[in-house]
Amino acid sequence: MSIWNLKAERIVGIDISSTAVKLLELSQSGKKRYKVESYAIERLPEKSIEDKNIVPDKLEDVGTIIGKLVKKAKPIAQHAAVAVAGPAVITKTINMDGDLSDQEMKDEIEEEPAQYLGQDNEEEISFDFQVIGPNEKEPERVDILLAACSSEILEARTTVLEMGGLKTKIVDIEKYALENAFLMLTQNDPEINEDETIALIEIGATTTMMSVLGEQKIIYTNEEMFGGKQLTETVQTHYGLNSYEEAEFAQRSGELGDDYEKTHLEPFKDEMAQQISRMVQYYYASDASSHYGKLSHILIAGGCASIPNIIEPINNKVGGHVTIVNPFAQMSIASRVRKKDLMNNATALMTVCGLALRTFDEK
Ligand SMILES: Nc1ncnc2c1ncn2[C@@H]1O[C@H](COP(=O)(O)OP(=O)(O)OP(=O)(O)O)[C@@H](O)[C@H]1O
Ligand SMILES: [Mg+2]
Repeated sequence: MSIWNLKAERIVGIDISSTAVKLLELSQSGKKRYKVESYAIERLPEKSIEDKNIVPDKLEDVGTIIGKLVKKAKPIAQHAAVAVAGPAVITKTINMDGDLSDQEMKDEIEEEPAQYLGQDNEEEISFDFQVIGPNEKEPERVDILLAACSSEILEARTTVLEMGGLKTKIVDIEKYALENAFLMLTQNDPEINEDETIALIEIGATTTMMSVLGEQKIIYTNEEMFGGKQLTETVQTHYGLNSYEEAEFAQRSGELGDDYEKTHLEPFKDEMAQQISRMVQYYYASDASSHYGKLSHILIAGGCASIPNIIEPINNKVGGHVTIVNPFAQMSIASRVRKKDLMNNATALMTVCGLALRTFDEK
């Protein structure tokens, strides 16, 4: 390493999600002690994102919004970590001859992608991979985590960041970014012991993701198409609101009155509790659970975890030790950050937090 390289480049996390673009920048003081340096969130107009990808003719709009976000948050970092997600991203564990160099592995995968991905792709694909360790059955081979994504989708991310004034340094996978924040949370929570089996369930606008941590590794994941979008769509139709954004705003404002609470919000909360309960049952029916056992904590995250009094219906359906996450509980916050707004959105900031934490990964 060059002596001039000591001052590592800090990275700002940018989560381009189904409903918003979220920015978060962290610094570190002491081991595992983090500080929020900058933060902002900007809502995206409806139909900017489909299947978690930026709609091709909306690139400029999203770029402009990122520019606004950067202006608002004024991060110190000029480099960003983003994530790709959705059906266009494939991750797979493969194994290869352990004697191959990284370059040889790369060449081999690039030569015959279909063999490794298990499918033919007509469009151009970008790959990345990481060696996990020796294969259990054939020790001379190594297990490799292979990630593949359409190059067009990847480029769309770097393009909008550039339009917003940021350079892309890391392209992560949404699920891994979320799990990265999950690990940080469990390691910093004084109430959680290292050997516990813990679930994180994140309910966003379009998807619900579940990850289970056992013996400090992710041992189970599941994803379902469930989210707050269905409530927003009902609100828009029922109250005759002009746009999805207006419905989103109304839904959060608490100004829709009793009728909204009784007819729309309460049934949604019950449905959400039902969904969580079902996912927990799926885990209990899995092989992973026969080895790692009962969940000692169930952490609930995502924008939907901020719905007032959501914990009660979940507790009634699921039982056990259910908590709403706050990734910033053990962090300090710079005075220039709007703390109230950060805390109001805390549950929706797990993914961006996982991205911002990439700054501290070993370079
Ligand atoms: N107070 C509230 N009442 C009702 N719904 C809420 C409230 N606060 C947040 N939500 C819902 O949370 C959802 C947004 O959550 P989040 O920001 O985690 O989603 P996202 O990251 O954009 O979506 P995805 O991860 O699916 O791409 C919206 O559907 C919104 O309606
Ligand atoms: Mg999300």
